[in-house]
Amino acid sequence: MQNHIIINSKISKFKKKIEVTSDKSLSIRTILMASQAVGKSKISNLLESEDVKNTLKTIKKLGIVYKKQKKFYEIYGFGLNGFDIEKKIVIDAGNSGTLARIILGLLVKSNFKVKIVGDKSLSKRDFLRVINPLKLFGVNIKSKNGCLPLEISGTNFLRPINFTESKSSAQIKTCLIFCALNTPGTTMIKAKKSRNHTELLLKYLNYPIKIKSKKNYDYIQIKGLNQFNAFNYKVPGDISSAAFFIVLTLLSKNSEILIKKVNVNKTRIGIIKILNLMNAKIKLINKKTYKGEETADIFVKSSNNFKSINCPTSLNSSAIDELLIIICLIASRAKGISKFSKLGELNKKESKRLDIAINFLKMIGIKIKRKKDDIKIYGNPNLNLKGNYEMKNFLKDHRVFMMSCIAALTLGGNWKINDKDSINTSFPKFLNILKYLGAKIN
Ligand code: S3P
Repeated sequence: MQNHIIINSKISKFKKKIEVTSDKSLSIRTILMASQAVGKSKISNLLESEDVKNTLKTIKKLGIVYKKQKKFYEIYGFGLNGFDIEKKIVIDAGNSGTLARIILGLLVKSNFKVKIVGDKSLSKRDFLRVINPLKLFGVNIKSKNGCLPLEISGTNFLRPINFTESKSSAQIKTCLIFCALNTPGTTMIKAKKSRNHTELLLKYLNYPIKIKSKKNYDYIQIKGLNQFNAFNYKVPGDISSAAFFIVLTLLSKNSEILIKKVNVNKTRIGIIKILNLMNAKIKLINKKTYKGEETADIFVKSSNNFKSINCPTSLNSSAIDELLIIICLIASRAKGISKFSKLGELNKKESKRLDIAINFLKMIGIKIKRKKDDIKIYGNPNLNLKGNYEMKNFLKDHRVFMMSCIAALTLGGNWKINDKDSINTSFPKFLNILKYLGAKIN
């Protein structure tokens, strides 16, 4: 079956209301937390994408029963370490770095070995970032050069640790918090700011976790071996999916969009802060709090005079999955030279996104200078493409595919974009929503 799309025209003006798919981080976390709760949890509006389906398959393999009802999933937890593992098993995390890394924290007491494997992209990613701190707790893990496949053996002799997480990685932080839940005593994590959904969920569930928030770091204290009860949760929209429509609207003429019910947790809205610093006027309306999280509708109007930015590195983590599209599609169109620094983590994602961004900018004729992990982009507000462009060899990275579609719909030119199936990782309805807005896609 054909797995590429063709886009030969820009999108015409639109004024629409949409909903994007549910938050991936919260979908994966609520499933895993429900698997460790006591009793029956109900999760509605769960994202039905490959990464989340792999999470459901994983808990099933680990002996947790779940049922899909019409409007929600029921998950039956037996409390902490309530997995039922009777022989050595293999978990296939597919493309999901979040699943593969954070599940490790819940397997630290397993009676049998658990092997974790993943797809081609995930098998190239770094796991030493979680293996090393887990070893400090006393966990046994064997891996091939710090990558997948890896094998974890549980232990009954876990000891609490005092650890500094300095990559701003919520996956590392969550993996360690999960391990701390199973560990006697108090674990202390000094974590460079990153998305804090796990902490908020544990707080909401009255788990004994304390968080002191300082400027760049959160100081997290977790008292291990406490149980929490089953819960109900309705997953809000994903700002990382909304990002593509925010940028599409900004770059289309005379257009407006209202994106309903999106999670706008402060640790996730870097894209809005960065784009507003560049002159966009994105508004959050109808703000609400929900079980410790914040939600809002996002209102965006076309804008055609972006100014360059010297992007504060303190915003990198809250825009970690959106930097690709900001750099490729907004900084490239801004007046002046934009600077982004300390982008090393971008090359640790589903594909090497920093390298891909640089090649992409060169392909569309934008001047760029790179010094290690810092880049300067010489924007061109009059950029208008006429040639033929093909996007391939990006390890089926869903965000590269979706960014390329927005490029094709706003820059002009004739585009062939490969690996359409990649959207199933996080946003299966992506192309349908684009078509609803009027995009012509073959
Ligand atoms: C995620 C954390 C981020 C992000 C990823 C989802 C999570 O990764 O890029 O898409 O749900 O914890 P890092 O922890 O590697 O920064």
